[in-house]
Amino acid sequence: MKRRYCIAGNWKMNPPGAAGGLLLEMREKLDEITAVDLIICPPFTALDNARQLFQNFRITIGAQNLFWEDKGAYTGEISASMLSAIGVEYVIIGHSERRQYFDDTDETVNKRMKAALKAGLKPILCLGETESEREDGITFEVVRKQFRGALEGIEIKELKDFMIAYEPVWAIGTGKTAKPADAQEVHELLRKLLAEKYTFEFSESTRILYGGSVKPDNAEGLFRQPDIDGALIGGASLSTVSFRQIAEAAEFLTTNEHE
Ligand code: 13P
Repeated sequence: MKRRYCIAGNWKMNPPGAAGGLLLEMREKLDEITAVDLIICPPFTALDNARQLFQNFRITIGAQNLFWEDKGAYTGEISASMLSAIGVEYVIIGHSERRQYFDDTDETVNKRMKAALKAGLKPILCLGETESEREDGITFEVVRKQFRGALEGIEIKELKDFMIAYEPVWAIGTGKTAKPADAQEVHELLRKLLAEKYTFEFSESTRILYGGSVKPDNAEGLFRQPDIDGALIGGASLSTVSFRQIAEAAEFLTTNEHE
């Protein structure tokens, strides 16, 4: 069974300055893509504008992080209820850049997951190994540990429309994409872990995205893998041309290859 593809853009701390122009361009260029789900995750400052601009359009919006407390004296933080109050639907949790530069751990990722679910947000849980972990042959172990840590104490009934993004750290922003077969291996492991922790049906219906230097010329090969259900895209999501081309690759496979 092939799941409906999801193409998500993680804009990270981009573009510098106001994001309105790029949001408008995305709205214009992506509205004809109907066979795949599209998500854009701009910086916090652009979320409200994005929500207004995408109203009645097909793109949904996501945030890139949240804090697990609901309110209080936490200068500079944003809570799950603040995001859902302005109509944000998705939230990226546990991105490797948060783990690397802002001390996110499996434990804090788990707290963020719980806060997001409680507020009705749909998490996109990121995990993946570093280059040295891959070289040491411990990719599966690392991914398994991150998976278990993030989902500790979370029940199946809480996980509505939740997604995982496998993002090998060595492939992020480096131009080194994982080979489709290597990515597939990890996606297959994740699907197995979902089935073990929850149910087979849940694991079959949960989308697992790949992230790490996805570009128009490598997207189709990745999307052809049975357990790759789309992509979480950094650099290439900042251009309407490349983001659209990647979405078209998924749309092409949906309409031509899969019944
Ligand atoms: P790049 O596509 O720029 O490698 O970034 C991937 C990523 O981190 C998406 O979350």
